[in-house]
Amino acid sequence: MARKFAEDRLVIASHNAGKVREIGALLAPFSVEVISAGQLDIEEPEETETTFTGNAALKAHFSAKASGLPALSDDSGLVVPALNGDPGIYSARWGGPEKDFNLAMRKVEEALQSSGSDDRSAYFICALCLAWPDGHEEIFEGRVDGTLVWPGRGDRGFGYDPIFVPDGFDITFGEMDPDAKHGMSHRADAFNQLVDACF
Ligand code: IMP
Repeated sequence: MARKFAEDRLVIASHNAGKVREIGALLAPFSVEVISAGQLDIEEPEETETTFTGNAALKAHFSAKASGLPALSDDSGLVVPALNGDPGIYSARWGGPEKDFNLAMRKVEEALQSSGSDDRSAYFICALCLAWPDGHEEIFEGRVDGTLVWPGRGDRGFGYDPIFVPDGFDITFGEMDPDAKHGMSHRADAFNQLVDACF
């Protein structure tokens, strides 16, 4: 049985304004005051774990301990089986210091071409960790499967969205209405599990 969230304030363990906004919107129906780690001057720890869930846990516990409040983190990325799981937990880093996702998408395509594989399947993973200051944690992992296309199409999402066509569709996440993406994404999948278990 998961621990229920009974507090009235929650720290979002991220400095990414987009993630904080998206998580705040998803939690809006639960009358929880959402505060970002940035607002509390809590730094972001280095992501030293080797899994999405490990890095999500590391970030949530760090913010929960620093703030004395429950904290929620999100660790996500694109997994390409033909590339042995790359870019995976390094999805953000493939964009380089400038966080250039045109560069990151080109690197994925070049790696696929040189792999010699014709498997263009891929999936996004989102790990969420809700951690309490006493060290308790609840972890959820969401996933959406699809296929990589080249060149990328659409400018509506972020990150690797222009090259990802979710199964059952013929448009990319970059071409899709944001509400439609948010209804079926890896983040939505993980959030639905979190809300069912803890809210
Ligand atoms: P994190 O901040 O370490 O979790 O990095 C997540 C990275 O994964 C982002 O910078 C994106 O490149 C990628 N990513 C995660 N979710 C999505 C998505 O919904 N669409 C496109 N790219 C995503």
